[in-house]
Amino acid sequence: MAVVADIKRGLRKAFRRTQDATSEKLKKQVRDFWDRQSCDTQVTDAVKFSREYFDQIESFRYIDQSFIHAFAQFTRYRGKRALEVGFGAGTDFIQWLRAGAIASGIDLTQEALDNLTRRIEAYHLPQPEKIAVADAENLPFANDSFDLAYSFGVLHHSPDTEQAIRELVRVVSPGGDIKIMLYNRHSIYAFNVWAKHALAGGRPWKSLRWALWNHVESLGTKGYTRGELRHMLSRLPLGQVRVRTELPTGEYMCASAIKPLNWLYRATIRLAGHRPAYPATGYNRALMDKYKPCGGAIEFSGNPLGFFHCISARKAGPGPCVAETGALD
Ligand SMILES: C[S@@+](CC[C@H](N)C(=O)[O-])C[C@H]1O[C@@H](n2cnc3c(N)ncnc32)[C@H](O)[C@@H]1O
Repeated sequence: MAVVADIKRGLRKAFRRTQDATSEKLKKQVRDFWDRQSCDTQVTDAVKFSREYFDQIESFRYIDQSFIHAFAQFTRYRGKRALEVGFGAGTDFIQWLRAGAIASGIDLTQEALDNLTRRIEAYHLPQPEKIAVADAENLPFANDSFDLAYSFGVLHHSPDTEQAIRELVRVVSPGGDIKIMLYNRHSIYAFNVWAKHALAGGRPWKSLRWALWNHVESLGTKGYTRGELRHMLSRLPLGQVRVRTELPTGEYMCASAIKPLNWLYRATIRLAGHRPAYPATGYNRALMDKYKPCGGAIEFSGNPLGFFHCISARKAGPGPCVAETGALD
């Protein structure tokens, strides 16, 4: 009996070691990819790190993804401790500084840190509390240190996304906010990547998962369905969980170079419908109660076929609201 148990333990250890090695190899590929060029910097041809270079990146980003301001709500964090995980070229990060937050941030790459450091200098912004190269799966911060942890378009690139989300939750104080954007696998964008690389490439049996993993940004990119988000988030100590699925402008306007496909995509997006977070009519007492910030169930809004799941939640902690919700079921 003892021998069998020893063998099982040995096998488990060997399996974990292989998994760790695979995950480290993938993380290195992710780092190498983003070290070559930080996110969105491809949209500018101005001199690298010049004021014009940063202006153009910012202008592109908030035209393409204007919903980021509503999602992040930068100015609400004036005087509060905010952490951004995976700041990339720092476009959102400088909004925390402009808003007067006590901001800290990490990214896996030196290239991102260089972009952010030069950007803060270019605009003469206040110094952040701490910015560093580090790994989202192992954050160099103590438990319960921040009023907000924010991560936009990052954690689906990390091999162990769930571990990275757990880390985000760990470093936020009870009652603090968590905001994460993760890609949606069941989206028009993912379908378009599949059509281009699987269907047109003569491999229609390949999955949407395969298309994202191999053909969207760094190797190993993942996308989550709403059901998967529900499963993942319900195991964490979170309340007031809202997921608004957004369509970036670029994705909506030029999803495919094949024109009839664009027509089909737009029709499908319209058919999928836009679900507002608040009803347009009947704003009465009952509805106001429904939207009091104490709800226990995950609320989905936006367009279900959008590529960006913008997740907002509050970490459970003392106080009437959170005690009522606790972990979601
Ligand atoms: C698509 S970019 C997003 C950057 C920025 N948040 C934005 O929206 O522009 C992805 C970023 O995630 C970073 N990243 C990927 N895996 C990471 C990890 N495990 N830890 C920290 N950063 C990571 C990459 O270095 C890259 O800068």
